[in-house]
Amino acid sequence: MNYEPEKMSLGEGDLPCNAAGCPEPTSPARRRWLGWFGALSALLASLAAGLPIVGYLLSPVIRPRKDLWLDLGPVSDFPAGATQLVKVENPVHQPWDGKSAQMAAYVRHSQAGEFQVFAANCTHLGCPVTWFPQSGLFLCPCHGGVYYENGERASGPPPRGLYQLVHQMKDGRLLAKVGHLPTLQDPA
Ligand code: FES
Repeated sequence: MNYEPEKMSLGEGDLPCNAAGCPEPTSPARRRWLGWFGALSALLASLAAGLPIVGYLLSPVIRPRKDLWLDLGPVSDFPAGATQLVKVENPVHQPWDGKSAQMAAYVRHSQAGEFQVFAANCTHLGCPVTWFPQSGLFLCPCHGGVYYENGERASGPPPRGLYQLVHQMKDGRLLAKVGHLPTLQDPA
């Protein structure tokens, strides 16, 4: 049996009939409502995607960066000629950071009286290095990077020496400046 669709005039937005039947004609009020709904959805999606970018661009104005000084302990805790591991909580962290909020640094007090504070992470791929006083070297367990006691690169894949934290003595305590992620361009 041949199906002959009934001839009828189509209004704007109406769909033609087919073998399955004729769709309900769309009323102008419904079309308008769908238009507004589409526009509102597009606006909300744009805001959701754009607000973080705007927040990032304005962050120097909204929250200017302050120098943060971390107390590593009394200067007298670091005897001359020793290199010691210090574990502290990074003040730049979120409540949900958990263990990753912990940070480690090595404090070296040389025989000559000079202080150095090293970030404990290898400058190759960031593994924590270990200080070996017997050999006077920092060794990285991941790919065999080696550093001298003054933080300079000795051998292996690290592209440079250990990162050093700016430090100062204040009221008999050793303070290190944090809140800055070092890059390869930082002075060794
Ligand atoms: S991470 Fe230390 S040598 Fe690769």
